[in-house]
Amino acid sequence: MANRILLVTSSILGEHGQSNALASHLRQRVDERGELSLTHRDLAVESLPHLGLEELSSWQVAAAERSAEQQVLAQRSDELIDELNDHDVLVLAVPMYNFGIPSQLKAWFDRVMRAGVTFRYTEQGPVGLVKGKRAVILAARGGEYAGTELDTQTPHLKAMLGMIGISDVSVVYAEGLAMGEGRRDAALKEARQAIDGLVAKL
Ligand SMILES: Cc1cc2nc3c(=O)[nH]c(=O)nc-3n(C[C@H](O)[C@H](O)[C@H](O)COP(=O)(O)O)c2cc1C
Repeated sequence: MANRILLVTSSILGEHGQSNALASHLRQRVDERGELSLTHRDLAVESLPHLGLEELSSWQVAAAERSAEQQVLAQRSDELIDELNDHDVLVLAVPMYNFGIPSQLKAWFDRVMRAGVTFRYTEQGPVGLVKGKRAVILAARGGEYAGTELDTQTPHLKAMLGMIGISDVSVVYAEGLAMGEGRRDAALKEARQAIDGLVAKL
């Protein structure tokens, strides 16, 4: 069966976003392959609200017993989890904003990481319930942090993905994008080549 790719973007810079540009490059390569399918969810466009108590509580009520309001609230998370489960490869195009992931992407994880649905706790610790998937992170940054303690993004993303059962994670870095044109162009070129290599193997 062909690989189904879920591409999640979160740059607030629209067509000027470098992580969006890398996502577009990946999309182009995927289209060229033909046998792959791709769904794009742009979190900067749809702007999920912060997760709050009412929405969290709606998950704890059995589906048949939810009020009309709880049904609407629970549906957000249900839909995002169903979408993830319907795909084989999760591609996260991730800008670094203030040393972290965009709050829009955090709002997505806050709904996808759901106890009893995408992971469960056992006496041996948490067990991921999302099976047979891999993830690709396209990490775009103004500065250069990969492999240093200032790269809080990569461990955070890997921890969240690992918690729900996605431990096969590839990271493509495009760093130094605000450190002069030469550095930016070289970083983007290298990232595009890495994406080409990844897509060729999907
Ligand atoms: C609000 C904001 C905060 C940012 N914070 C950081 C940062 O902490 N470290 C960094 O290296 N670059 C930072 N940048 C630069 C982005 O990482 C850079 O624009 C990169 O291209 C990824 O974002 P993009 O996909 O939206 O273009 C920031 C950019 C914005 C707009």
